[in-house]
Amino acid sequence: QTAAYDEPYRPQFHFTPKENWINDPNGLVYHEGEYHLFYQYNPFGDQWGHMSWGHAVSTDLMHWEELDVALPEEDGVMIFSGSAVVDKQNTSGLGSEDNPPMVAIYTGHHTDEDNPKQDQRIAYSTDNGRTWTKYEGNPVIDEDMKDFRDPKVIWHDQTQKWIMVVALPTEYKVRFYSSSNLIDWELESEFGPAGGTEGIWECPDLFELPVDGSEESKWVLQVDLNPGSVAGGSGGQYFVGHFDGSTFTESEATKGETNWVDYGKDFYAVQSFSNVPDNRRIWLAWMNNWQYAGDIPTKPWRGAMTIPRELGLTNDLRLYQHPIQEVESLYKDHREWNDLSVSAGEPFTHKALQGKAYKLKADISVGDADQFGFKVRKDEQEETIIGYDASEEQLFVDRNKSGSVSFHEKFANRIQAAPLKAENEQIILEILVDRSSVEVFANDGERVITDRIFPDSSSNRIEFFSNGGSVQINQLEFRNLKSVWNK
Ligand code: FRU
Repeated sequence: QTAAYDEPYRPQFHFTPKENWINDPNGLVYHEGEYHLFYQYNPFGDQWGHMSWGHAVSTDLMHWEELDVALPEEDGVMIFSGSAVVDKQNTSGLGSEDNPPMVAIYTGHHTDEDNPKQDQRIAYSTDNGRTWTKYEGNPVIDEDMKDFRDPKVIWHDQTQKWIMVVALPTEYKVRFYSSSNLIDWELESEFGPAGGTEGIWECPDLFELPVDGSEESKWVLQVDLNPGSVAGGSGGQYFVGHFDGSTFTESEATKGETNWVDYGKDFYAVQSFSNVPDNRRIWLAWMNNWQYAGDIPTKPWRGAMTIPRELGLTNDLRLYQHPIQEVESLYKDHREWNDLSVSAGEPFTHKALQGKAYKLKADISVGDADQFGFKVRKDEQEETIIGYDASEEQLFVDRNKSGSVSFHEKFANRIQAAPLKAENEQIILEILVDRSSVEVFANDGERVITDRIFPDSSSNRIEFFSNGGSVQINQLEFRNLKSVWNK
């Protein structure tokens, strides 16, 4: 197996399929000690088509085992995005109380061009997701609509009902349906248009999160946008508010704002896991952008998932996310430096500071520098710059010289996040670098940038730079990460 997962751009600690095309994560659910990751998959090639649900399982969210296709395209109906739940009380009657069924809720996309239609369907498994049966009464919701997709289903405790949030893409709306058995659904309400409406709405998610420093909790409604997202092309936005089992109402404090989940180019169709122990809210996204997803230079697979991230809400109702702690199980060697002063024109580097799959964490006192940060995957010709611009108060990633960039005109760029204040003059950068990606989390994940990069395999140096003044690195931590493909 090792050799097959060792191509130059093959992520070493992110999920990729062995071969072929993937897009959105689907059906993320925990059941009986296993996390299930389904995904939009073309079993027959490395471009979008014949959409089916591919399937992988993991016990730690880091090491994935790819299984057989769970839900194949069939009878002119492709299996589009959706979610999965464990029906613990067997409300659907598709399993038994001793052996609660896993139920997948997905969009049926009719491929007949003369009769285009999308409807909502279910399938179930009573053997821990190893085999799936499409429900014979499908579809379970048919509104005779062309664009009606991506159902995310949750169990709503207060009303003891299943709730489905599903997109009306071209109307920039989501709909909420409720059900007592996952089969009969009733329309409750709609939300939108709101926030970003420069592109169609897809792949909604809905969950409750505790608010830091209070006894309260709030509901987060996440909706993807394609195109017209913050970095251009596809991306995700969120709304914070209240959901009573029927209607979603935005909180006054954030109402009318457009809030982005990630400021990078490559974070789309994010979905959170259902049924995770200890109430952790964990999500992951497709690490790609519809602008160039079909052109990225990887073979024999195309598409990758982000690192799973754990979510929280600050007391002023901002979403933050940081890599799940399970990443620590991949730590290999560890280097640490303290109290380094870095001045303009004299970058800090060290012979141990190099690699192609690692984590960097730096706690920096801003000082009088204009800009500072890391150059990663660097050699004479190539570098990806991850920095903070002190005058603009912005985190940025510049991949103009990151390696192979010419496969699409929208790929080479420099992007920045909304302003982020240096608290007590401090910026903390946590960065995950893999063979073909960077994920940057600033100040505990209050700003995040996720970008694919395709550097030469010889570009592996790391340096820390400061421009226009000096900065103090209070602590710098570097850890190589083990590959998840050779256990
Ligand atoms: C989002 C999306 C979904 C759809 C799926 C099809 O990337 O367009 O709306 O269900 O991909 O593969």
